[in-house]
Amino acid sequence: MLYYGASYYPEQETWEEIQSDVHVIRRAGFNIVRMGEFAWTKFEPSEGKYDFEWLDRVVELLGQIGVQTLMCTPTANPPIWMVEKHPEILYVDNRGVIRPFGGRRHYCYTNPVYRAYSEKIAAAIGEHYGSNPHIIGFHIDNEFGQEGTGRCQCAECKQAFRRWLAEKYGDISSLNERMGTIFWSQTYERFDQINPPVHTIENDADQLIDRYYDNPSLRLDFERFSSDSIIEFQNIQRDAIKKHSKKPVTNNVTGVWTNAVNYYDSFNGLDIVSQNEYSPLRGESMYTTNHSYAFIRGILRKNFWVTETRSGGGQCVWARQGILQPYPGALKQHAVYTYVSGSEAYIYFQMKTFRYGAEQQEAAVLDVDGVEGRRFKEFTEVSSTLPVLEKYLTGTVNNDIAICYDYDSHWAIKIKPFSKDFVYQKFAIDILASLSIAGYNCDVIPPGNDIFKYKLVILPAQVIMSESFKDTLKNYVKQGGTVIATFLTAIKDPDNCAPRAHIPADLCDLFGMRVTEGEPVLENTVSTITLSVDGKTVTGQNLFWTESLEPAAAEIIARYDDTFRKGEAVIARNKYGDGTAFYMGCGLEPDLLGAFAAYAASLSGTRRVPFELCSGVEVLERCYEGKPLYCIFNFLDIKTDITADGTFADLLTGETFACVIPIDAKGYRFLSPL
Ligand code: GAL
Ligand code: ZN
Repeated sequence: MLYYGASYYPEQETWEEIQSDVHVIRRAGFNIVRMGEFAWTKFEPSEGKYDFEWLDRVVELLGQIGVQTLMCTPTANPPIWMVEKHPEILYVDNRGVIRPFGGRRHYCYTNPVYRAYSEKIAAAIGEHYGSNPHIIGFHIDNEFGQEGTGRCQCAECKQAFRRWLAEKYGDISSLNERMGTIFWSQTYERFDQINPPVHTIENDADQLIDRYYDNPSLRLDFERFSSDSIIEFQNIQRDAIKKHSKKPVTNNVTGVWTNAVNYYDSFNGLDIVSQNEYSPLRGESMYTTNHSYAFIRGILRKNFWVTETRSGGGQCVWARQGILQPYPGALKQHAVYTYVSGSEAYIYFQMKTFRYGAEQQEAAVLDVDGVEGRRFKEFTEVSSTLPVLEKYLTGTVNNDIAICYDYDSHWAIKIKPFSKDFVYQKFAIDILASLSIAGYNCDVIPPGNDIFKYKLVILPAQVIMSESFKDTLKNYVKQGGTVIATFLTAIKDPDNCAPRAHIPADLCDLFGMRVTEGEPVLENTVSTITLSVDGKTVTGQNLFWTESLEPAAAEIIARYDDTFRKGEAVIARNKYGDGTAFYMGCGLEPDLLGAFAAYAASLSGTRRVPFELCSGVEVLERCYEGKPLYCIFNFLDIKTDITADGTFADLLTGETFACVIPIDAKGYRFLSPL
């Protein structure tokens, strides 16, 4: 079953408006709405006095026309009566500024008073709606960590951080030793002397990190602690709901960009993985979204939900400028792309334009004038396509290539950046894009035992690697797997300290080489590199960070052509057991990256889609009736002809194509080999 719908805010509407909105919801063909996440003052107008009646009749009215409700807990917005009574629940940022009432997310997730209130409201909602047949499930809060609220520095968090450290290290001397606090005489005598690092990281607060003088080990632990605390906060609500209901519980997260929470841990105890995805709908490619979906799909390795997505352009709060309106066809294409990527729900933000408040004029399914315009027509086209999609999109997505995404490495790179232009997530997206253009699709997974399910595993700049994963990786290659690790691999230990070892630490035997020197790539220090594989050479420039390699057992497949590094090794290939380990010592320009990654993919036996693609045209592979189903998307604004290896039937239009397949601007086809 595929779900399609919008977030709806009946608390802002009169009963007459609600009745007319329900007609619009039906005309749009929606079968799900998401409600309640900002409505605490309506649910509990004064302490302990709950009111659900206002929402019950909306749930019922929608239920009668077959629309299910995803019910949210409203804990992103503690009401004024609570804040007035307990000002200590407010969030404190890394400058010590208390986040006042008047926006949203102004709470501390560690504070026991706030946790108790949140538990009570979640339980009340769970109890009230737990067995309502029109409720499909629940979701907790709204986007943990957004608006810079993922690293609270209040008195409760300080105490809790000290307890977390005491539990992890046992005694203070062990902490001192592992964190190297002798540096700058930072040695502690007791855990209660430790303060959270001030120059900490949170989304939207990057600009506050102007100095890097905190102890990096302590800072990494503060990332881990804060993430754990948010997850505890989440799970208190989950348990409160689950006491009263068997329905699934999820959370709407912001994906790889916010990073306040380790989603591998947070979704571990939830039933559905959901993400909010705001892809640009006037762009000419979708690789960033592809990576987002691959990441969210990889968390529990199953299909996922999109709990919020863009319904149009216009004003936008968080972009701090307007957002372009979708190109004709792009809304429909994006919905189909999302379902093909493994989502079972696609929920717009939001049903009706807000007339007031911070998000007035934010795009909606229905504009403020109530006219069902060109975008509305596309929404109805999507809903009428759902039965067709349900027919073809059975099972889930299965790719042969995994890109590992690691929280410790992400945080460590933010704590101590290596190069101004290097963004960890962005680098993974570049790799995924190059492979996609070369005809190979990728999953994104946590570094762990799941790698054994893949033919090729890519570790982009995994600066921190646990001992156990290093062993896993060696076993994987020994047994025939292919791995690509890049510059900066294992340059830190799990305490975020420099290992006393050749780099990549403890992996030089696997890669058959060691790194002799590394430096950032700056405008005036760019080098040219030549890759020689399969009797062909490809030349291009290095990016971000560049290393010289000293080979031992490895063969060198790329070298520097100029600068004083001329002739030095930069990409190595090593036979290890039955498999192959590649080490890529620098970032590579797209064509070079594509040539290298495609070479490694073909060597690993990864299957390739039978089309010649260009940037902006993607083929995602699903399986239908035992045959590959190639879902091809043209994100470009012009009709494009794609060369195909073979003859294909378009299952949606009934056409047959040999060799050349035309695809409309913002179009898509579902192709089955004949
Ligand atoms: C999301 C958020 C929504 C709304 C939306 C605006 O990140 O969850 O509540 O603010 O952005 O685009
Ligand atoms: Zn706090």
